[in-house]
Amino acid sequence: MTVHVEERDDRVIATLDRPEKRNAIDQDMIDALHALCAALEERPRTLILTGSGGVFAAGADIAQLRDRTAADARRGINAMAFIRIRELPMPVIAAIDGYALGGGAELAYAADIRIATPSLAIGNPETGLGIMAAAGATWRLPEIVGEARASDLLLTGRTLDADEALRWGLVSAVHPADRLLPEAHAIADRIGANDALATQHTKRALRTPRAQHPAIEFELQAELFDSPEKHRRMTAFLERRAARTRQHDERTTR
Ligand code: COA
Repeated sequence: MTVHVEERDDRVIATLDRPEKRNAIDQDMIDALHALCAALEERPRTLILTGSGGVFAAGADIAQLRDRTAADARRGINAMAFIRIRELPMPVIAAIDGYALGGGAELAYAADIRIATPSLAIGNPETGLGIMAAAGATWRLPEIVGEARASDLLLTGRTLDADEALRWGLVSAVHPADRLLPEAHAIADRIGANDALATQHTKRALRTPRAQHPAIEFELQAELFDSPEKHRRMTAFLERRAARTRQHDERTTR
């Protein structure tokens, strides 16, 4: 298997695992990512995406890419898998060590949250290979870093290091390699402590085109306002406050 999948109750950790090819994304890996998405659509959980061998992914597999035709391009082989990842109900965290190039970078752009290590090298060298980045970079990167920076990266094919990626907001944090996965799990822990439906609705609203706001929020919030979990969580909050106030009053009247 080129993607190692570890299933837990509230999260799934998927590791691109083809280190001898720097985790280059081939058809097998795309098939495995679709299977992973099917499982997460069926039973939504937070996804942590990472790579083995100190690399996230060094791009689409150039050996396969070289033989692909115009018809293959129109099928959007990688793009469709990455869109499916982007649309997963629960958050996707990309934990990026080392190279995230070409399709590897586009897979990272499909995540909701990106964290990295100091050895990060992220960018889209596609034009140097006679193709363009067509699996999300041209529309997703401008959303993440703005059009000027996306143009700088995509039109030059240059690579960002960790410092520049952090300055640009392309990654939200940089951690030493041995802290990368623990920090990704800490983010998943925070998400797991919140209400899953509220998280899913927030992600959905974030993904909704501007013209549909604020109607989309009203509908999603309407469902949450009627949910028993909202009532339970707010009651718990109010009861905690009331108990604290009682304790405080008892102390001051003693
Ligand atoms: N597609 C297919 N194979 C790839 C690959 C890719 N995108 N990236 C790396 N590999 C393979 C190499 O061909 C090599 O295979 P081999 O051992 O059978 O010859 C193996 O992975 C190791 O690569 P190597 O270049 O020796 O590793 P490195 O650590 O010295 O360099 C990179 C790493 C990422 C800088 C370099 O492999 C590279 O430039 N890869 C291509 C990046 C790219 O252009 N991606 C965009 C694709 S659209």
